Amino acid sequence: MAESRGQWSGRLGFILAATGSAIGLGNLWKFPYITHENNGGAFVLVYIAMVLLVGVPIMIAEILVGRRTQLSPVGAFRILGQDKPGGKVWSGVGFLGVLAGFTILSYYSVVAGWTIHYTWLSFTGKLAELATDPVGLQTYFGGEFLANGPQQIVYHLLFMGLTTGAVYFGVKGGIERVAKILLPLLFLILIILLFYSSTTSGFHEALRFLFIPDFSTLTTGSVLEALGHAFFTLSLGMGAMLTYGSYIGKDISIPRAAFQISLLDTLIALIACVIMFSIINSSNIDVSKSSTILFTTIPTVFAQLPAANFFNAIFYLLIGFAALTSTISLLEVVSSYAIDDLGWSRQRSTLTMGSVIAVFGVLNALSLGGNTKLSSINLVGRESTAGIFGTMDYLASNWFLPVGGFLIALFVGWVLGARETSEELEKGHGVFAWFKLWRLLIRFVAPLAVGAIIVSVILGREYQ
Ligand code: PFF
Repeated sequence: MAESRGQWSGRLGFILAATGSAIGLGNLWKFPYITHENNGGAFVLVYIAMVLLVGVPIMIAEILVGRRTQLSPVGAFRILGQDKPGGKVWSGVGFLGVLAGFTILSYYSVVAGWTIHYTWLSFTGKLAELATDPVGLQTYFGGEFLANGPQQIVYHLLFMGLTTGAVYFGVKGGIERVAKILLPLLFLILIILLFYSSTTSGFHEALRFLFIPDFSTLTTGSVLEALGHAFFTLSLGMGAMLTYGSYIGKDISIPRAAFQISLLDTLIALIACVIMFSIINSSNIDVSKSSTILFTTIPTVFAQLPAANFFNAIFYLLIGFAALTSTISLLEVVSSYAIDDLGWSRQRSTLTMGSVIAVFGVLNALSLGGNTKLSSINLVGRESTAGIFGTMDYLASNWFLPVGGFLIALFVGWVLGARETSEELEKGHGVFAWFKLWRLLIRFVAPLAVGAIIVSVILGREYQ
């Protein structure tokens, strides 16, 4: 069975592919934006605590279920749940994951597609030209680019094409290969930009803002937002880590891998903040709180620098690379369902699912046209925003991922026995010294914390 499904070539392949899934628009776009909104320092600390207390334990749980069953989410929960309380109903958690993958990919690839356009504009020098006038760039982005339906569709389809192409060639030949090329490039670009930002006058202020906490600015809303974001950014709650975990061998330590992936993801998010806040601080541009700052403000700042075209281009390539390794994992969850459960070949499954999502995503691509309230384009936003794009985003980040994560924690913490889980975690690791702590977190802390998100969504609380 494992042979026909595919496997990573080894530990590194898995870590890179899973880290690629985790690092995405969530790190480079959403995290700097919410950190700015939640006043830096204290929020960053709370976020790190959420990653450690809830994110890492759930990631361990997902990878564990995947490796134990060597199946994607629907089959994995069905098999493990069949002789347990709840029985086959648990496969619903897998279906929720497939639905989440479908939904998120349909709008994520629209935004990811923008990076292709912006990279192109950077190479041709047009972006730097547009960005000499901040208002002009805002108008271009909101009025011209988003409102241009055919263009939105083309970039979205291009990005879906790249995603489908990678998944088509399989676990090792496609997904792992792309991650092995793009992630090192992504690290390299980040290091160049970090180095550059350390020479700007805004660098120290950025570090102070990020790393000196002021707890008086913290609200319950910030805590819930940090937790919700930890989920999205670590690709948890929809079985992406579970699916990737189903392709690893028994020689890999799951706790260590989960910790390393989460650490890398957090590091990259923090580096992205340092870069963006440094360059924004050192410019005299008044940063609007709009979440579209990545496409409107950043180029304006680069335009004031020497080599603006170069910095613009590598910046949008960076975001595009990060987004692609994430969209690949989103499609893999949906495709692997058809491969494992419907018995389709990888090629048939990938092409069919990729096309269906691409077509559905066209609705999202078109829903932004003429959207004058740019601040309402809020990836993984907490409020329901206008149009079908906003609805998809709202459903996925407020409902599908938290509910999925909640059920995964309940299943692994309460339905699977302690012996079954510890046995799996010891494979490739030896005695797992932190098992009791992990079990405590997965049984109590994670469900309660994620439950709090769900309750707050039900009560209709705005996060800020
Ligand atoms: N983790 C990705 C990001 O931070 O952008 C988004 C994501 C990818 C969420 C894959 C869920 C997923 F399964």
